[in-house]
Amino acid sequence: MSRLTITVNGQKVSGNNDEPLLVQLERAGLQPEYQCRNGMCGACRCKLTAGSVEQREAMAFVAPGEILACRSIPTSDLSLEFDYQVQLSPSAVNE
Ligand code: FES
Repeated sequence: MSRLTITVNGQKVSGNNDEPLLVQLERAGLQPEYQCRNGMCGACRCKLTAGSVEQREAMAFVAPGEILACRSIPTSDLSLEFDYQVQLSPSAVNE
């Protein structure tokens, strides 16, 4: 497992090349939107503006340049953009 840097709406967090992005962002204290967590609903859709991911099988529609955070494993340092401000969880703020 390699350590990576994930930039989310301009904010840098630590990541790895082993787990889905959604899990890694949540561990970093961010709260991206999600519903199904298995590639069905599209709620976790975001733009991949730099870097690369391995996109696992998913049913939800994504436009060119978009990925599903719940089904994407980073393969490099990368940058993501969500269409909304990704909140920090209250527990992360207090740490
Ligand atoms: S949370 Fe449903 S597709 Fe990612």
